[in-house]
Amino acid sequence: MCGIIGFAGRDEAAPFLLDGLARMEYRGYDSAGIAVRSETLGLQVNKTKGRLQVLSDLIHGGADMKGNLGIGHTRWATHGEPNDINAHPHVSEDGKIALVHNGIIENYAEIKEQLMKYGVKFQSETDSEVVAQLLGYHYKECGSMLEAVGRVLRRIEGAYALGIICADYPNTLIAARKDSPLVLGYSEKGNFIASDVTAIIKHTRDVVYMDDGEIAILTPDSIDVFDDEMNLQSKEHSVIDWDVSAAEKGGYPHFMLKEIYEQPEAIRKTLSPRIREGKLVLDDFHMSKEYLQEISRIFIVACGSSYHVGMVSKYNWERMLRRPVEVCLASEFRYSDPLVDDKTLVIFISQSGETLDTMAALRESKRLGGRTLAIVNVVGSSIAREADDVLYTWAGPEIAVATTKAYSTQLVLMDLIGLYLADLLGTVSKEEYQTILQAVEALPEQMEAELKGLENVSYFASRYFNHDSIFFIGRNLDYAMGLEGSLKLKEISYIHSEAYASGELKHGTISLIEPGTLVVALGTYGPLFDKAMSNVVEVKARGAEVLALTVEEQLEKMQKVADSVVVVPGTHPVVQPSLGILPLQLFAYYVALQRGCDIDKPRNLAKSVTVE
Ligand code: G6P
Repeated sequence: MCGIIGFAGRDEAAPFLLDGLARMEYRGYDSAGIAVRSETLGLQVNKTKGRLQVLSDLIHGGADMKGNLGIGHTRWATHGEPNDINAHPHVSEDGKIALVHNGIIENYAEIKEQLMKYGVKFQSETDSEVVAQLLGYHYKECGSMLEAVGRVLRRIEGAYALGIICADYPNTLIAARKDSPLVLGYSEKGNFIASDVTAIIKHTRDVVYMDDGEIAILTPDSIDVFDDEMNLQSKEHSVIDWDVSAAEKGGYPHFMLKEIYEQPEAIRKTLSPRIREGKLVLDDFHMSKEYLQEISRIFIVACGSSYHVGMVSKYNWERMLRRPVEVCLASEFRYSDPLVDDKTLVIFISQSGETLDTMAALRESKRLGGRTLAIVNVVGSSIAREADDVLYTWAGPEIAVATTKAYSTQLVLMDLIGLYLADLLGTVSKEEYQTILQAVEALPEQMEAELKGLENVSYFASRYFNHDSIFFIGRNLDYAMGLEGSLKLKEISYIHSEAYASGELKHGTISLIEPGTLVVALGTYGPLFDKAMSNVVEVKARGAEVLALTVEEQLEKMQKVADSVVVVPGTHPVVQPSLGILPLQLFAYYVALQRGCDIDKPRNLAKSVTVE
């Protein structure tokens, strides 16, 4: 979604801003702009619809904009269509203040109406311009930027991360945050603000995460952070421990392909600190057996692919824990008057740690007295900081919009937690515990070997890429995995696709199967393989073309029915989806490639969704 970068330094700001915006392109956007201030030229603003390259060409890579103080933005349209005028930065009527904003100002309409009564003229349809104009109005009235910012923050409602510069303040960048992430970066060349550390990692690893309600004042030599009553805060610094190369393509044509191949290593990193001498050690998660026994309900709450991890975990956890586990979409859960109390464990899964619906569901759960545990990839993100406990998936930065390695690391981490809880409760035998743990530990190597042998997936993609409707069917864990396989495909190839529980197909959807319809039949879940096969036979009988996925053990049976078969290594059923998902990710990738789609930045999608 929208990206913010800001720089107060000694060098020219524009190149830093363009580079920072380029590093956030993956988040999804439809227009971009920057504002720079210099003593001689004052405020200069350039913004345009479309890709960042268009903006960069317009200002000759930044050479046309002078000054060492600036802000930049990539916009993902909410209020007002993507066009040059609605793009950020927005400027106050007198041309003195430029502002970039992430989030949504909920009471923008009433403020706009009031300002229009005072004669303020608006350029755009955005809620963000209202903040710029309100700031301009108060600044004119009180003559102090800080006072004006304070007044504005007291007036606006909703979510925001703001970056503000003013023509009258040569070296000062002001930032504010509420419910939308903002990080402060310290460097020799000057100081930064960014909505995503990826934007500034090239220049610094020394960062401070802003908290809700805080205001920061940056100069080239200092950053001061204040709370909402302007009390100076002492902030803890964090060190970003991943390298800039982690956010670069490293020879791969797309981030998505790179990230698919990074999965074994990412899983290794997620597992290794947590398994010691054949035993699970979740250092950062403490729950006593007594407390766990008192827990009467477990919810898993998430969005998108993270929700699909929840679907897999529901099957696995219920089997291991012998107690009900409910999986909920965060956007539904938060408004459903959820049955959460102090005997409820609510688990939130989120790659970014910033998804607004998940965040809101977390706050609602805390309000109701539930115990909250976050499974998050981005260190220091809002969800990670607000949950009672957090366990990180050490997947490293994930740049492609369509998640792969974050999904896989979430999957294994959820397996580990389920097993840990089952051990605590005594609902798995010692033998079963060891068998599952060994299967999890073997995953990185198995995945490495598997990835080497999946060349046929690109061939199948070239054979099937022109289908316009594809069904994924499977039972139990295969169904849960199919949901993710189907989502991957539609996200990046724009092919209509649906995942169905095989047994449910005949209750309606089978009417859509006609000669030639492609069905991806998932048959990796051993205990229900034969049942799943009978559903494959059903679609074959209606003329479907079947691309199947199975394990070596079942290959012969599957070959008798399916038109094409991809084989994955077998393992314990609990961890089988971790091996099954790889060909589905690759299938989506190669189909999208064949169709000439923008794989890393699919249309209309954003990496982290910070609006409702
Ligand atoms: C967006 C992304 C999805 C992601 C979902 C949840 O829709 O495009 O890939 O699964 O948000 O994101 P989270 O960061 O909470 O896992």
